[in-house]
Amino acid sequence: MEERSQWGTRAGFIFAAIGSAIGLGNIWRFPAVAYESGGGAFFIPYLFALLTAGIPILIMEFTMGHKYRGSAPLTYRRMNKATEGIGWWAVLVAFVISTYYSTIIAWAISYSIFSINLSWGTDTESFLFNDYLEIVEVPGQFGSLVPGVLIPLLVVWLIVLAILFRGVSRGIEIANRIMIPTLVVVFIIIVLRAITLPGALTGLNAFFEPDFSQILNPQVWIAAYGQIFFSLSIAFAIMITYSSYLPKKSDITNNAFITGFSNSGFELLAGIGVFSILGFMATQQGVGIDEVVAGGVGLAFVVFPAIINEFPAFNEFFGVLFFLSLVLSGLTSLVSIIETYVSGLSDKFGITRGQAVIFGGGFATIVSLVFATQGGLFFLDAADYFINQFGVAALGLVEVILIAWFLRKLGTFKNHANEISDIRVGSWWTISLGLITPVVLGYMMYGLLKENLTRSFDTDTGNYEGYSDAFINYGGWSVAIGALVIGLLIGFTKWKTKPEEGDYDDR
Ligand code: PHE
Repeated sequence: MEERSQWGTRAGFIFAAIGSAIGLGNIWRFPAVAYESGGGAFFIPYLFALLTAGIPILIMEFTMGHKYRGSAPLTYRRMNKATEGIGWWAVLVAFVISTYYSTIIAWAISYSIFSINLSWGTDTESFLFNDYLEIVEVPGQFGSLVPGVLIPLLVVWLIVLAILFRGVSRGIEIANRIMIPTLVVVFIIIVLRAITLPGALTGLNAFFEPDFSQILNPQVWIAAYGQIFFSLSIAFAIMITYSSYLPKKSDITNNAFITGFSNSGFELLAGIGVFSILGFMATQQGVGIDEVVAGGVGLAFVVFPAIINEFPAFNEFFGVLFFLSLVLSGLTSLVSIIETYVSGLSDKFGITRGQAVIFGGGFATIVSLVFATQGGLFFLDAADYFINQFGVAALGLVEVILIAWFLRKLGTFKNHANEISDIRVGSWWTISLGLITPVVLGYMMYGLLKENLTRSFDTDTGNYEGYSDAFINYGGWSVAIGALVIGLLIGFTKWKTKPEEGDYDDR
């Protein structure tokens, strides 16, 4: 087997882990989720989820990667022969994410260019759907490929695959060392401008005002856990893969705390920036914040362009900065998502990194073309909705229950992490993973299944722009179950390399 790659420096690993964590989820997801889930009061469930699930799982995944020194499938395999398929399942979900995540970055590239002369005009909604995406009438139809999306999409793939091709320390590490500091600088400029806009305070008040009546609402807790999982890139094979490149002498727990707190810090910064800007917009239009609040596609590509139009000065400049920050945060996350299958393929089939990048990345590029069609937005929204809801709960639940309850590995992992780390973890960690997280995720899964299986499929209540739940349900379930079945099947196929041999700790 090829000698496993390694990060060049400790900071390189930390930058890469933070680069993976900070993504579109921080910028367009967190602010809206927090606002809708109790504003200032949301920080209680959010911090609880961070401290009992986010950071503990990060420590667990860093330990797994470091101890077994393998991609997610190899790590699961080395942990217990029978569980390899779970690793592949996570990798396949990551594969699906990479196909649509790349498309959103492509849109952001287009919009960085549109910013230069504010070419979205005054009706930003119609511009997005009709002029840019050329959207089809009926969800589920493909229509034809949209060149305006296709070209930046191919550019995105070219960039990330080139980074991955260059390897862990020469590619991923260098890219993150450049892009993450740039992102932070760009974002701080945006936030400084945002908080000095007229009306910013109104927005911040709306964002931070605690609505404590929400605190006992289970939905709010579910939203907090969902946000933490998605935002920290945990349970998706990503952090296991990145930590498999750690040198033997590495600090695990401290790195996990740094990653977790940096990600939440950025999230908070994004909340402040976004809500200051929304406050400005609401004040300009003389309406309440609740009328301008949006998240996801609507926030980034409809509301923001409209606000940039209204900026007092340097509109184009701030437009470019905003979309550039989406591009940078997205690229560093996308690289980490794709690395899960690049690493998995080369571990299992003994192919070189280059071959794995061409094969895995090439296949993902082809699949991603679905999202560059006129029907792309609907497919993207369905995939994203489903992954957010089920992906997180299902993968996280299976992972913690398997490790804590069935394989009973928490004790071994704790010793492994404590031996090499500054900060030692104790019963807080074991209780969080052995009890609190499985109970919360189990409850979350139960609620989701109940809601989704009892919903009648022929109503057109729609989650987004009024298309039917049936579309999301059937599409989502086929992909989710498909990923699980294929994952388990790959887990039974023969290795081209010798997974049990190698330089890892199998106590
Ligand atoms: N954590 C990143 C984000 O918030 C990237 C990511 C997305 C990771 C989805 C896993 C799953 O956008």
